[in-house]
Amino acid sequence: AEQQVVADLRENCATPASLLRDVAAAMADEMCAGLEKEGGSRVKMLLSYVDKLPTGREEGLFYGLDLGGTNFRVLKVQLGGNDKHVISRESRELAIPPHLMSGSSSELFGFIASELAKFVADEEQGTSLSNGKTRELGFTFSFPVRQRSVASGTLVKWTKAFSIEDAVGKDVVAELQTAMQKQGLDMHVAALINDAVGTLAGARYYDEDVVAGVIFGTGTNAAYVEKANAIPKWEGELPNSGEMVINMEWGNFYSCHLPVTEYDQSLDNESLNPGEQIYEKLTSGMYLGEIVRRVLLKLSLQSSIFGEIDRTKLKTHFHLRTPHISAMHHDNTPDLKIVEEKLKEILEIAGTSLETRKMLVEICDIVTRRAARLAAAGLAGILKKLGRDGSVDKRRSVIAIDGGLFEHYAKFSKCLEATLIELLGEESSKFVVVKHADDGSGIGAALIAASQSQ
Ligand code: BG6
Ligand code: GLC
Repeated sequence: AEQQVVADLRENCATPASLLRDVAAAMADEMCAGLEKEGGSRVKMLLSYVDKLPTGREEGLFYGLDLGGTNFRVLKVQLGGNDKHVISRESRELAIPPHLMSGSSSELFGFIASELAKFVADEEQGTSLSNGKTRELGFTFSFPVRQRSVASGTLVKWTKAFSIEDAVGKDVVAELQTAMQKQGLDMHVAALINDAVGTLAGARYYDEDVVAGVIFGTGTNAAYVEKANAIPKWEGELPNSGEMVINMEWGNFYSCHLPVTEYDQSLDNESLNPGEQIYEKLTSGMYLGEIVRRVLLKLSLQSSIFGEIDRTKLKTHFHLRTPHISAMHHDNTPDLKIVEEKLKEILEIAGTSLETRKMLVEICDIVTRRAARLAAAGLAGILKKLGRDGSVDKRRSVIAIDGGLFEHYAKFSKCLEATLIELLGEESSKFVVVKHADDGSGIGAALIAASQSQ
C-alpha cells in the first residue's frame, strides 16, 4: 500500500520539461493580461510607482520596517551618497506574536510601531541624530497592495499566515502613521514597497543588469522592470524614465498545467485563503512541509509502515515545517539518523526501518523538486515576456532571489538553477544569471525611500 501512495505522488507531481514550458508560456500570457486591464488576470501585475531604480548616489539616514516574512525586522541604514556606499546598517529581528496575525489592524500596527519606537530610542540614545528633522522610513509590506503613489496604498487581501479582516481595503501607510503617532514617534513614510520590489532595488544598486527581484520564502513573488508604454492599464502620466517596476503577485498564478494533487487540494480547501495563491501553495516555504505532512498522514492511515502510532502530531496542520523536511532531505548519514531523529522529535514516529526512512526522503524530494521546477518555469516565463530567454535579447540578465527557502534549502535552489538551464538551453548560462540577494529588501526599502525624498 505504501508503495502505491508514493508511486501515485511521484506520478501526480511529475514536471517534465514540456509541462514546464507550458507553465512558462502561461505565466508570460498572464503577465500581459494583467498589464492590459485591472482584473485582467489572477496575476495582478500591481503598479509599484517606483519609476527609478537606485543609481548608487543615494544619501542619508533611513529607517526601514519589514513585515511579512518569517520575521518582522526594523532597520537603520546610512547611505554614503557616493558610488554604492552603505556606511552602516543596523537591524533587529523579531517574531510577530501569532495572535496578532489574526487580530485587529490597530493591534498589529500598534505592535510594529512600538517595536520601531524602541529600536529608534536605542539607536539614537545619547545622540542628537534626528536634529529635529523628521526621520524617513521605507516600509516593506509583503502583501498585495494597490498603490496610489509610491508612499500609499490599500491592502487588497492578506496572504500567507495573516488574516486581519478590518485591515483589508485600508491604506496601510495611514494605519502605520496613526500607530506611530500614538507612540510619539516622529517618522515619515517615504516609500511603501513589496519585498520583491525591495529585492529588485537592493540588487540593482550593486548590479545594473538586474532585471527582476524574486522571493522564495514563506511566500513567493516576483517584481521586474517594465516599459511604461507596455502597461495599457496605466492611466497616469508616464514617468520620465519610461519605466515602472511591477509587483507581479505571481503567488496567485494559476494554470491548468500546474500539477495539483489531492494533497494540494485539501491543503487549499482548509487554508485561510481557499482558491487563492495556488502557485504559492505549490512552491513556497510556508507550504512544502505541510504537503509532506499530508502525504505522511495518508501513508500512516493506509499502510502499517509506521506501526501503531499516536497520530496527534501527524494530524496537526503545519506541525511539520519546511526546515524540518529540508533537514531530512539533506541527511547524508549512511543510515539516515537525522530522518529518524526528526520523525521522532516532530511527529512522534519511532522505530522506523531504513527502507521507510528512504521513502521519506523520496517524498521530500518529490514535493521539493516539483516546487523548484515550477519556480524555474515562473522565472522562464518572466524572461520570455521580456524577450530575454535567448529568443531576442542576449544581454546579461540577472535575477536576484531572496527568501529563506532559496537561501537555506540547497536542494531547492540547485534544482531551480538546473531547471532554468534545462528550459532555456545550455547556452543561456552565458547570459542569464541567478543570484542570491542577501537582505535585498532591507537595503532596497532604504534606497527607494532615499530616491523619493531627494
Ligand atoms: C527577506 C526580505 O530577506 O526575505 C523580506 O528582506 C522578505 O522582506 C523575506 O519577506 C522573505 O523571506 P522569508 O523566508 O522570511 O519569508
Ligand atoms: C505573498 C505576498 C507577496 C509577497 C510574497 C513573498 O505572496 O502576497 O506580496 O511578496 O508573499 O513574501
